[in-house]
Amino acid sequence: MVIFGASGDLTGRKLIPALYNIAADGELPPTLKVVGFARREKSNESFREELEEMNKKVSRQGHDDRLWASFSQSIFYHRSEFEDAEGYERLAKLLDDLDQQGAGGNRLFYLSTSPDYFPIVLERLKAAGLHRAAEGKWARVVIEKPFGTDLETAQALNRAVYDTFDEKDTYRIDHYLGKETAQNIMVLRFANAIFEPIWNSRYIDHVQISCAENLGMEGGRGGYYDKAGCLRDMVQNHLLQLLSLVAMEPPTDLSADGVRDEKVKVFRSLRHFKDARDVADNVVRAQYTEGTINGKPAVGYRQEDRINPESMTEAYVAVKISIDTWRWEGVPFYLRVGKQLPKKTTEISIHFKRPPHVLFNKGTEDDSANVLVMRIQPDEGISLRIQSKIPGPAARTERVKMDFHYSTSFGKKASPEAYERLLLDAMSGDATLFARGDEVENAWRYIDIIENAWHGESGQPPMCHYPAGSWGPSEADELLRRDGREWRRL
Ligand code: BG6
Repeated sequence: MVIFGASGDLTGRKLIPALYNIAADGELPPTLKVVGFARREKSNESFREELEEMNKKVSRQGHDDRLWASFSQSIFYHRSEFEDAEGYERLAKLLDDLDQQGAGGNRLFYLSTSPDYFPIVLERLKAAGLHRAAEGKWARVVIEKPFGTDLETAQALNRAVYDTFDEKDTYRIDHYLGKETAQNIMVLRFANAIFEPIWNSRYIDHVQISCAENLGMEGGRGGYYDKAGCLRDMVQNHLLQLLSLVAMEPPTDLSADGVRDEKVKVFRSLRHFKDARDVADNVVRAQYTEGTINGKPAVGYRQEDRINPESMTEAYVAVKISIDTWRWEGVPFYLRVGKQLPKKTTEISIHFKRPPHVLFNKGTEDDSANVLVMRIQPDEGISLRIQSKIPGPAARTERVKMDFHYSTSFGKKASPEAYERLLLDAMSGDATLFARGDEVENAWRYIDIIENAWHGESGQPPMCHYPAGSWGPSEADELLRRDGREWRRL
């Protein structure tokens, strides 16, 4: 495995700890060697030491010195500029040497550089002949997000990829797909007979997908974020991917293309907004202002490190999405996602229609709708809200919850990190949990219309505001209130 951009944050915080934990579970292929490819001057030893420090801090299963000592012997550092053809020749030589030491000849190239370098790395890999494996072996590429910044750049990047690798050897990361509970959406829907018959517009009133974060622009992320914004950073990929898992038709099998063919149909059925007015009516964008989070003061978005003080970039989005299919006709999907909200939590809630005839609690406000909640993180699990009779002589009912928690059913150790699953899948050649080129392009088609309305010449919808530490702007509440609905309390 060769990690391009190995001195970046992702390698130390996610990739190496993921490999270490796979090793701790005894599932790491014993022949695996990892080569960090980056521009800074480092030796194998200093690279390993840095990674060790980080692994001690973040490893899911703790850090065992003995395991690290053997695991880290498989990690190497290769210094080169990303443009430098000669650096790739030397890389080829290093990989051959490692093969001689038993690495086995397969190649996983992990692109984790700044995205500007993706095309040049692909081109240089091809020029050095590294994109083709030896007879009977494979060469694959894993590409980190962001995959383009709009449709045009995503298409250009897809062309650059296809010039070097086949789609079947291309693994576009969306780490939300690696989350245990995201994978469970398909299991819940298709391994249980009771849900699918009611999973449609006859029984479902609407769907909410909420992703709250209680962080701002820590760790120098402002520079990237202020250019991207919340819509590109979270909605185009993670949230639309979750939506596609909820909305897709049952695949005929679990092959990568079987699943992704169904998901791409969802992306193609997203109803595009007609114009800036339509966008303004259905999408809320917002920035946080000064506030308090967990008792600590927090600055506003425009005062954050590396953010333009006059920035028009959104840190929060709420959107009402319509899906033009028989199954989802008239069922809105409301998505909301933002930074500096009161806590970190992601969940999907399916709000069913009310019983057609009211028998109980007459004259009081009707809150009898069943709600199925899939908690993606934290406290992963699933709950179903139902009505129950309050004990006693009166025929009165109250909401109660049937609740499944991963931690109680499967124990704490059960939830591997998303990157662990995704790296293992990429090594074993299963691309089901990776985005295919056409999924990504169709997601951008939908997103571009909103971006263009926000940054177009005229009629730009307003930027709304919410104090840091609050649950978002009042305009997002209004988006549901006008439909007679409200956001679920998180
Ligand atoms: C990343 C985004 O893809 O996902 C970040 O770039 C965001 O802005 C992160 O914080 C959230 O991931 P998770 O797994 O912590 O929910």
